[in-house]
This record gives sequence, C-alpha cells and structure tokens, in this order.
Amino acid sequence: MNKKIAVLKGDGIGPEIVDEAIKVLNVVAEKFGHTFEYDYLDMGGCSIDKYGVPITDEAIERCKQSDSVLLGAVGGPKWDTCDPAVRPEKGLLKVRAELGLFANLRPTKMFKQLSSACPLKEECTENGIDLMIVRELTGGIYFGEHKTEGDTASDLMIYSESEIERIGRVGFETAMKRNKKLASVDKANVLDSSKLWRKIMHKLAEEYPEVEYRDVLVDNCAMQLIRNPGQFDVIVTENMFGDILSDEASMLTGSIGMMPSASLSETTLGMYEPIHGSAPDIAGKGIANPIGTILSAAMMLRYSFDMAKEADAIEQAVDAVLNENYRTIDIKSENLQEKIISCIEIGDKICDNIRK
Ligand code: IPM
Ligand code: MG
Repeated sequence: MNKKIAVLKGDGIGPEIVDEAIKVLNVVAEKFGHTFEYDYLDMGGCSIDKYGVPITDEAIERCKQSDSVLLGAVGGPKWDTCDPAVRPEKGLLKVRAELGLFANLRPTKMFKQLSSACPLKEECTENGIDLMIVRELTGGIYFGEHKTEGDTASDLMIYSESEIERIGRVGFETAMKRNKKLASVDKANVLDSSKLWRKIMHKLAEEYPEVEYRDVLVDNCAMQLIRNPGQFDVIVTENMFGDILSDEASMLTGSIGMMPSASLSETTLGMYEPIHGSAPDIAGKGIANPIGTILSAAMMLRYSFDMAKEADAIEQAVDAVLNENYRTIDIKSENLQEKIISCIEIGDKICDNIRK
C-alpha cells in the first residue's frame, strides 16, 4: 500500500522521537512492501516562530489531504508568555477540531519488564494494568464558550446527544474488541451534561448486551484507578475528565515515555502521538525515549491503515528490545543487567528486531 503521512514533529524532543518513529515505519514499509510518503509540517512553538500562529491553514489543509498524521509534542517555556490566543496548545486543539478527531484512545499498559517502576504497592497491581481510556476530544468544556467579563470568567461544558452517542459507540466497540468491560465515567450526581451522558450510554448499553457496563463517578474513578487499576478494561468519558484520568493512569505504569495515543475521526484519518510532552529540559541531548512515539506509529498502522500484522511487528520488536534489557534513562531501574542507550540506539534496536 501507498500511504501519505503528515508529520508534525513539534517542539522540544518532538523532532528526535519522531525521527525514530519514521525510521521504524520505513523498516516496516521495506519488510512488508509498502510505501510511506511524508509531508513535514510545522505545529506548535516552531510554527509560532516561523509564521506567528501555532498552525497555519495550509498545514491543516495538508493534514486533511494525508492518510494520517504523526505528531511528536508541542510547547515549551519559550512560548509560555505568548499571547494566549497563539499558544502552541491552540494548534493542537485546532487540528483536533478541524480534522474532526473526536475519539482519543489512550492505552495504559504496564510492561512486565518495567513493573518495578509502578508507584503502587504490589497488592494493588496483582491483576496487572492494561486498560484503554476512550476520551471524547472535540466537545465539552474545551470547546464550549470561554468568557471573561470584568471579574468573572466562565467555561461552558456542553454536549449534544449525538456527540455523546458517537463517542459512546467507540467505547462499546473498543470493549467488544478487548475484554468486554466498559466503565462510563461522569459526574451525573451534579452535572446536567453528565445526566445526558448517562442517559445516552444506557441506551447504547442495550445494543451491546455482551458488554459488562457500569457507571462510575469521576471522583470515584480517580480513586479506583489507584486502589485497583486491574478492575478496568475500557473507560469512556468526556473531554476534561479524560484529560485528567489519562494522566493519572499513565503514571501508574511508571513510564509515561512508553504510552502512545490515537485520535480518530469518522473516517480513517487519525492523528497519532505519544502522551508525554515536549520535555524541553532534555531536548537535543539524545536521551529521550522514542518508544511512545514508535508505539503511536504502530497504532497508526492498526487503526488508520488496517495493517494489523505490521503493527504487531512493531509492538513485538519493542517487547523484544525491553526483554534484551535495553532502556532509555527514564525507564531505568535498579536492575544491573540493564543497558542504558540513546534515543537513536533504541530506534536502531527496534528496527533490527523488525528486520529479523
Ligand atoms: C493532552 C494535553 C492537551 C489537552 C493540552 C496540551 C491542550 O494535556 O493531550 O492531554 O488538554 O488535551
Ligand atoms: Mg492532558
């Protein structure tokens, strides 16, 4: 197959980690007989520096014309004092909205090789950690009206039935492909938007009798994630709750540098990025962990290109490299067998494993 990938390397460690993901994609292309063509575009601080905006309309257009988008990370202290209207994050929100990326999948998995990095007591993780957060990404308080008037400010959390239904469906479909357990997270004891959320979810639950469904209040969910994360399979929730819970969940694995994500639309066009930030403090030092981005590229193959065996090949190669005790510094433990290597070397090891 021939696929065109828009590449937004972004800021900080973005360029170095994306380079490794592209190296891996090229090895996959060679091995499985595909052609990947890359369209390099600017987003975030780098775009503000060049064009005065976090993403240009032309870059958005070219993303829309691609088969999918690969993103590194955006932002950094240099742009913290920017006019709020042109902050790097605005670029990200604009791409999500313009490309209709309403479904954000954030897998949270504890790699057995890295289990000592989990900050929880062993008894809390007896069932392991392998859950998927399905976060609504183009609605809710992020996209409701934001207003500041005199000494008062407000942000509107707004959802329509159809917005809830389409993300709910992604939640149920995702559960069907996994262990058929779905927790829908809301704050229906207080918020009207959550009451509507719950009503729609209950309607959908009737269509998926095989899925073991339950409602969980967001505060309780935050607690349960720490108490016993193994109880969760798929969590579906609105935009801001998903933002917060996914950061919490990623920390449980102790290795935020390993976590990928996919943002999906109604078509096969999706955007794929690691969940960590641009880590400006280590940018350019060659020590960043590219695995979150490499696994995001695997998600791209699986979800946008329907290339399951190619995605498996990347995931197995990552597993093999961890089994061989290769680590970047962020995932180092007390284990003396471990060999700390650079961002580029990890990329090379993963490529070698795919070629095998
Ligand atoms: C995320 C980030 C973004 C969000 C920020 C950078 C706007 O925290 O992708 O989780 O809040 O969605
Ligand atoms: Mg976040």
